Amino acid sequence: MTAGPLLALGIETSCDDSCVAIVREDLAILSSVVSSQTDIHKRFGGIVPEVASRKHLEILPLVLDEALKKASVSLDDVGLFAVTQGPGLLGALLMGMCFAKALALAKGKPFLAVNHLEGHLFATRLGTPSPSPPFVALVVSGGHTELFAVQCWGRYVLLGRTRDDAAGEAYDKIARHLGLGYPGGPIIDRLSEKGNRERFFFRGGLEDEETFDFSFSGLKTAVIRSFSQLAPEEKRDENLLRDLAASFQESVVRILVKKSFKAVEAMGWHRLVLGGGVAANRRLREVVLEEGKRRGVEVFLPPLPLCTDNAAMVAACGLFHFLNGEQSSLNVDPIPRLSLGEPQGS
Ligand code: KG4
Ligand code: ZN
Repeated sequence: MTAGPLLALGIETSCDDSCVAIVREDLAILSSVVSSQTDIHKRFGGIVPEVASRKHLEILPLVLDEALKKASVSLDDVGLFAVTQGPGLLGALLMGMCFAKALALAKGKPFLAVNHLEGHLFATRLGTPSPSPPFVALVVSGGHTELFAVQCWGRYVLLGRTRDDAAGEAYDKIARHLGLGYPGGPIIDRLSEKGNRERFFFRGGLEDEETFDFSFSGLKTAVIRSFSQLAPEEKRDENLLRDLAASFQESVVRILVKKSFKAVEAMGWHRLVLGGGVAANRRLREVVLEEGKRRGVEVFLPPLPLCTDNAAMVAACGLFHFLNGEQSSLNVDPIPRLSLGEPQGS
């Protein structure tokens, strides 16, 4: 019997999505199933960690079945089990890791623990064209806003990071204060579409400073303060809310784009890669592509469904490391504060 191409099964449970995907070694996605818990958590205006862990435990076997069925393969066809080790919520990570370890052990197949942030970068490798290093990478999600210099896949130098809130976190917190719902990113993105981006102006912390670090907390507070100072009838004014959302979004996009291209220029490279939930933002995608064209910098964005958490990016990242000769021990634990890359000069 001749062995077919290697298949990796990826599992992602770092936050509130239970995800399983099957990816072939040539990076074709055979299936990618995401079971979102949004409907459960939105009642609380944010994620409740204990509820998320319990839900992962309940739903993972069903998501696994669906992923295998969609890919028309069985567990015996899988040659590698990859799972998110961190960063993320401890209980949620633990569910995915136990599940993946049990499968690897039962099937006697290799196991690989993956960094979630690196996974977000691998999402661009699942699209076309796929970026080749060297490039600057911006990971922008609900928990992270980090800029990396990537000389080659697998080696990351941290250029800058947020000193307080992540960009997605600012979206989520503002949406909660404005009573818009959860998660805030897609809601504010949609609301902003017909808003006047210039009605309000919000400056970001560190925006014009030399550092590649970000700060979104002051910006978030300014938006919330502007809202709370409105008269009750103004708070119900749809147009005003649209303008406020669009003006906030414009500031976030301006800051992310400004710092990213500054890093590209500092490195003397010509490629920029984005990853993470906020990379799904319509305005960010539009502005970063325009700016890239203007500056002669190639910009790589993940396909829309692969910006937010998914397991295809985890499987792709696991495949890369496995094909490079790496494997993880079944004794590894989840690491909720796992970081990616060393700061420059360390
Ligand atoms: O990568 P992700 O799914 O999970 C984390 O690793 O955090 O990112 C989720 C974050 C949330 O904060 C969500 O509000 C934000 O990404 N997000 C967006 C959009 N879609 C999701 N932010 C802005 N615009 C969007 N279209
Ligand atoms: Zn993520």
